[in-house]
Amino acid sequence: MGRLTVVGTDVDIAMKPGETILGALHRAGYAATSGCKRGGCGICKFDVVDGAISYREIVADTVLSPELRASGTCLICRAVPEDDVTIATRPESTVRCVAPFLTALAR
Ligand code: FES
Repeated sequence: MGRLTVVGTDVDIAMKPGETILGALHRAGYAATSGCKRGGCGICKFDVVDGAISYREIVADTVLSPELRASGTCLICRAVPEDDVTIATRPESTVRCVAPFLTALAR
């Protein structure tokens, strides 16, 4: 499976098959801007810089418009990388390490 990196951070972790980006970040000891964690609030928007993602569950256009999808915005609570993926925070989003021992295990 691919790797997840986040521009401007030390995030570089191995993904598990079918895992969402937010799930991988949590497993690796990172906290990321999020809310409902089920695709309903739109708070967890990040930008896909490289790679492709897909959604295993429906994401409403009212939460993530076709225009935002086309511009590379994703919801990390629902987005599942197809392979290696690089994302970037947006002005309203952050990623920070909260459990370094988990980060060490995920590399
Ligand atoms: S946390 Fe609510 S849409 Fe992702």
